[in-house]
Amino acid sequence: MTVRKLALCFLLVSVARVAAKPPNIVLILADDFGWNDVGYHGSEIRTPHLDRLSERGVRLENYYVQPLCTPSRNQLMTGRYQIHTGLQHQIIWPCQPYCVPLDETLLPELLRDAGYHTHMVGKWHLGMFRKACLPTRRGFNSFFGYLTGSEDYFNHTRCSFIAPLNVTRCALDLRDGEDVAVNYTGLYSTELFTQRATDIITRHTPEKPLFLYVALQAVHGPLQVPERYVSPYSFIKDQRRREYAGMVSAMDEAVGNISRALQDSGLWNNTVLIFSTDNGGQTLTGGNNWPLRGRKWTLWEGGVRGVAFVSGPLIEQPGAVSRELIHVSDWLPTIVGLAGASTNGTKPLDGFDVWDAIR
Ligand SMILES: *[C@@H]1O[C@H](CO)[C@@H](O)[C@H](O)[C@H]1NC(C)=O
Ligand SMILES: *[C@@H]1O[C@H](CO)[C@@H](O)[C@H](O)[C@H]1NC(C)=O
Ligand SMILES: *[C@@H]1O[C@H](CO)[C@@H](O)[C@H](O)[C@H]1NC(C)=O
Ligand SMILES: *[C@@H]1O[C@H](CO)[C@@H](O)[C@H](O)[C@H]1NC(C)=O
Ligand SMILES: *[C@@H]1O[C@H](CO)[C@@H](O)[C@H](O)[C@H]1NC(C)=O
Ligand SMILES: *[C@@H]1O[C@H](CO)[C@@H](O)[C@H](O)[C@H]1NC(C)=O
Repeated sequence: MTVRKLALCFLLVSVARVAAKPPNIVLILADDFGWNDVGYHGSEIRTPHLDRLSERGVRLENYYVQPLCTPSRNQLMTGRYQIHTGLQHQIIWPCQPYCVPLDETLLPELLRDAGYHTHMVGKWHLGMFRKACLPTRRGFNSFFGYLTGSEDYFNHTRCSFIAPLNVTRCALDLRDGEDVAVNYTGLYSTELFTQRATDIITRHTPEKPLFLYVALQAVHGPLQVPERYVSPYSFIKDQRRREYAGMVSAMDEAVGNISRALQDSGLWNNTVLIFSTDNGGQTLTGGNNWPLRGRKWTLWEGGVRGVAFVSGPLIEQPGAVSRELIHVSDWLPTIVGLAGASTNGTKPLDGFDVWDAIR
């Protein structure tokens, strides 16, 4: 081949890459899901949907997150370490007046600028003390879910001890857009959020690509789960582990329902599905990170090495296991790259585009 033909060939390849329709991105974040709580790591908990989806994709076995919710979510949304955003200390407690700084550009803003429909269902936990902090003001076309954490799974109330007043106050923490959503009491959040996510998928018109961020409450404490998910685990003697196992089964079913909705709606053939935990399992409420030491809140491997996989037809070697070092801060540049969007407007990123390693 002459140099000129070769150059033409490269040109055609790059044109084809640019011309391909940007993929739909569905990012599912589990809360406090432990290393030894997924079937494919040998857990006694059954996760047929996670096993199957990851088998058709790539399991990320050397993947790291932050040891805690707010810092991990901060990295997911900004691509930047929390030391740059003032969110390194802990979670944002309900009465604390701060959020991801408003001069940060968030992932959904970048995708919306690139023509995506952007939706979020589930737990935000990146601040809410003023309206400008809300997900609907930070790039999401729609939001349904929690603004803080540790709600009751059925009545969606968050209780908080207010030390200066020496009282505990409870408040409903469920929003539809920016409105308080009052009429969902009694509905289990794993099913409620899944229903909203599948509704969004079903209603999506494929002219525009979809970015759907599903940040499930599962499997964070409190240990609450409908009995039908627990009954298969009567062989687990520890009550907390048994109830937690039921919660994991519900979460696994949620991921199965979302992937089925993507298939039924015809979106799956151009979708990248990413599944990740936000931090390691909480062993005090039934989670298990064996053989990794430690738990959520700790810097041991059990706190920071996370379960994750990527699935969908864009994975070129289904069934592969990746041992590349991949980090939660890598999702923003990776997803932006997949979307053909631009990181223009972000502050200096800590993450890298790791799509070549993943696909
Ligand atoms: C919601 O449930 C919690 C227990 O998880 C309880 O303390 C609270 O009073 C309940 N709130 C309402 C409004 O029922
Ligand atoms: C806080 O309230 C509890 C119960 O209402 C009471 O027993 C306790 O003494 C109070 N503590 C302070 C520091 O006021
Ligand atoms: C709650 O109320 C909203 C607004 O009226 C409505 O769209 C929604 O279907 C209701 N949900 C339930 C579960 O009743
Ligand atoms: C999954 O879908 C089935 C059938 O629609 C439904 O009964 C079940 O509650 C859903 N599970 C979750 C976790 O949403
Ligand atoms: C995906 O499915 C849609 C609808 O069935 C079809 O129009 C499109 O060509 C398919 N895309 C790919 C990449 O197979
Ligand atoms: C990013 O910004 C630079 C400088 O403003 C501009 O030249 C470039 O075209 C932008 N890139 C994209 C992809 O928007």
